[in-house]
Amino acid sequence: MTGIALIGLQWGDEGKGKVSAYFSREARLVVRFNGGANAGHTVKLLNRVYRLHIIPAGALTAGRAAVGPGVYVDLELLSRELEEVKEARNGFRLYLSPKAHVVLPIHKHLDGELEKKRPGSAIGTTRRGIGPAAMDKHARLGVRVEDLTMDEQLLKERIKQMIKIHNITWNNLDNIVEKLTSYTHALADTLDDVGLRIRREMEGGGKIVFEGAQGTLLDIDHGTYPYVTSSTTLASAAASGSGVGVKHINKVIGVAKAYATRVGSGPFPTEITGETAELIRGYGGEYGATTGRPRRIGWLDLPLLRYAANLNDAEKIVLTRIDTLECVEKIKVCVCYEVDGRRVEEAQVTSYELMKAQPIYVELGGWRGKVKNWSRVAEEGYGALPREARRYIEFIEEEVGVEISHVSTGPEVGDMVER
Ligand code: IMO
Ligand code: MG
Repeated sequence: MTGIALIGLQWGDEGKGKVSAYFSREARLVVRFNGGANAGHTVKLLNRVYRLHIIPAGALTAGRAAVGPGVYVDLELLSRELEEVKEARNGFRLYLSPKAHVVLPIHKHLDGELEKKRPGSAIGTTRRGIGPAAMDKHARLGVRVEDLTMDEQLLKERIKQMIKIHNITWNNLDNIVEKLTSYTHALADTLDDVGLRIRREMEGGGKIVFEGAQGTLLDIDHGTYPYVTSSTTLASAAASGSGVGVKHINKVIGVAKAYATRVGSGPFPTEITGETAELIRGYGGEYGATTGRPRRIGWLDLPLLRYAANLNDAEKIVLTRIDTLECVEKIKVCVCYEVDGRRVEEAQVTSYELMKAQPIYVELGGWRGKVKNWSRVAEEGYGALPREARRYIEFIEEEVGVEISHVSTGPEVGDMVER
């Protein structure tokens, strides 16, 4: 019985999609349990690039995927993605939890409005309506997938109440209800008790992959509040967000990029600007998969990585984008902070502490020009990595105290070195 949670250890965009597609090859089912269409999971399979937002990227290799109760679902997008994945993968099956909350057009509208009303402190959200949908869920005003199967008139009343409480005017309510009903019809045969399905599969000895969205530092409670997303992004959410007990998550693998990026506002102690940042952004194509925004770039931050690994009880780390880092001559790593004259090894993630943190760096040699063909490195194994890259990997492992079990050497699912 194996339930593997793949959790981002930074600010999202760690390459979870590709890693999930790799681990889902022998999985019975891959599950999304948090977030919504704010996620953008990119995976390259047999030279074709897929960009998924709600259906987990592991669907492409597992052939069966579930969207759990903890996800905020954009039904229009989900219907489109379902067609896309069905086309790519014959016999693909999707299971959608009736308990999942629906992101309505009203939520996307409110997402933009809320951002406009806080100039100077805007979060820089993806405007996918996740924040407002989460507000309504917690205010007990939300609409769940199951509600769409109820009487249309009742549904209309529910949405009317929501509009009234938000004090907005909305003209084409009939149109919203009509559209929602049509997507619900299209998705009707996917509705399923996701938790029960996972339990049965695991009892039968099947492996399940829980594909996290966002990253630990965007977690609503443990991230860089208020510059966070509106759901729980930690491994512990994999259980409640899918509908199983915590014993079903018996392996936690953290996913970390070899450097750091962040989209949107908020503290980022190791951020760099200028030539090196431009170089990494351009070489790595570091633009948001959901919004196309240029990602902020920085060096790997070990105080934050230690924090994230510990918070998730990460047993192993998959280090991604080692191929991208070849674009720089010298690589810096933040080994600790100085905060008000104190040395901090494991970050305290409170906004004030992070704002005051002075990163202390060490510089390591890069591996520019040392690899002719990264795919061949993946085939040949760990020893085929340049000496400097191995030094970098082993340095991080030692400093964080968690084994780096896999290193990603490219965007293709198979571009992975297992140690
Ligand atoms: P994946 O799963 C990167 C960021 C947004 C913003 C903040 C809040 O692809 O790693 P939201 O729209 O969630 O209310 O925005 O969170 N954010 C992400 N950044 N990757 C993601 O997901 C993200 N999901 C949300 O940029 O700063
Ligand atoms: Mg993303």
